[in-house]
Amino acid sequence: MLAPSILSADFTNIREDFKIMNEEKCDFIHVDIMDGNYVPNISFGPGIVKQLRTLTDIKFDTHLMIENPENYIKDFAQSGSDIITIHPSTTKHLDRTLNLIKSYGMKCGIALNPSDDLTCLKYILKDLYLVLIMSVNPGFGGQSFIENSLLKIKDLRNIIKNNSYDTLIEVDGGVKIDNAQKILDAGADILVSGSGVFKGDIRNNIKKFKELMS
Ligand code: DX5
Ligand code: ZN
Repeated sequence: MLAPSILSADFTNIREDFKIMNEEKCDFIHVDIMDGNYVPNISFGPGIVKQLRTLTDIKFDTHLMIENPENYIKDFAQSGSDIITIHPSTTKHLDRTLNLIKSYGMKCGIALNPSDDLTCLKYILKDLYLVLIMSVNPGFGGQSFIENSLLKIKDLRNIIKNNSYDTLIEVDGGVKIDNAQKILDAGADILVSGSGVFKGDIRNNIKKFKELMS
């Protein structure tokens, strides 16, 4: 499955970009929210997400790179997000925040940074819709894929398989058409791609990703 990250989109042309994602039937739209505190960059907030919601029926996969996400779950629910993914260290009571996300009818995910271990997932994994393996350090689009992420994807795939869970593995950061196959082979279900989709011919990039996944 493909989740274009609109962080790399040209916002002066966003309506046209959404039209292409609709026509090419993207599986998700990845929405990166950055607060300039948890990560050294600021993107946009729930008001913009709500406006974008009017441009598509594709599910919004909202990746919160913000401190104290529990304070904004309601806002993102009202913005039309379908999945909310949070980083464990950003919230004091992780299980409570996951339950809060679910209480709004949204699915929840956990994002792990390149140096984060899989062990923190042990008691929550089966209740997660997805685990987002960050294959770059969070904060910016256009960074290079960290190769060690492949090992983490494989390890997580084994854990999910051995326990017969249905949690999805999503991979985010430096994902391009030319490294997508090895990421899928390692066990990824959903590929997030920002610059890999929005640099160059967007429709053609999406088609190439989808060909690989078919
Ligand atoms: C990085 C974001 C990513 C980013 C990916 O912090 O979480 O979703 O937009 O961009 P690319 O695909 O260009 O690495
Ligand atoms: Zn992201």
